[in-house]
Amino acid sequence: MAESAVQTYDRIGVGYARRRQADARIAAYILTALGDAETIVNVGAGAGSYEPADRRVVGVEPAMTMIRQRGPAAAPAVQGSAEALPFVTGAFAAALAVLTIHHWSDWRVGLREMLRVAQQRVVLLTWDPDSTGFWLHDYLPDLLEYDRRIFPTLPALREVAGSVEIVPVPIPHDCRDGFLGAYWRRPVAYFADDVRQAISSLATQDASAGLAQLAADTADGTWERRYANISHLEQLDVGYRLVIVAGAAS
Ligand SMILES: C[S@@+](CC[C@H](N)C(=O)[O-])C[C@H]1O[C@@H](n2cnc3c(N)ncnc32)[C@H](O)[C@@H]1O
Repeated sequence: MAESAVQTYDRIGVGYARRRQADARIAAYILTALGDAETIVNVGAGAGSYEPADRRVVGVEPAMTMIRQRGPAAAPAVQGSAEALPFVTGAFAAALAVLTIHHWSDWRVGLREMLRVAQQRVVLLTWDPDSTGFWLHDYLPDLLEYDRRIFPTLPALREVAGSVEIVPVPIPHDCRDGFLGAYWRRPVAYFADDVRQAISSLATQDASAGLAQLAADTADGTWERRYANISHLEQLDVGYRLVIVAGAAS
């Protein structure tokens, strides 16, 4: 039987918090999107990245391996899933979900739940499957196809949420949060076991052939030459988007 996303995170999530820490520049985008919301539910909260310390936050996270990695100063978290949020309607000003919606067993149900519990706004950080991706996908085209299957498209999100604001989030070249697109200027990072372990698609899909080619290309200078156009950029749009639904429960 196929492993559920929760089982996956209970298995691969060990050590997640070391590689997956909030990047301050991405946090600034999220904070702006949250506006003045004083109470926030963070759905698929993981170890607590991007939870504003100066607001009242509750995390919802199904995987105990992830909950255990929340630091002593982190907001309280309940074990639960997006598809059945254990809160009354309008319990929070805002609902936040960061790089998690593609894991939900039914993202439409989960998004409706977020819209139900949030009075003012829903904020998602996600990846646009209609974006072109970035050079890693030249090496790992199957991974691009895999991600395109599991991430909801922006029109599909609109169908459920109605009017949404989309904000592109460019990724800094030295991004601290080690998600798939974080290392677009640091190709050798993908060779580290703990880096791949903290990226669910690389932890669960066989990427060995593409990474072997990448190793050869970084070693002989092919990668440098091929992607010279990005090697001095400070940040790059690799498809990450904030999706903001204002006036959620109204
Ligand atoms: C890539 S991690 C992101 C964690 C955190 N938001 C962050 O930015 O570090 C994805 C998280 O989604 C959680 N998840 C998986 N299925 C879920 C579901 N149905 N409802 C809520 N969270 C879920 C996983 O357990 C994991 O903690």
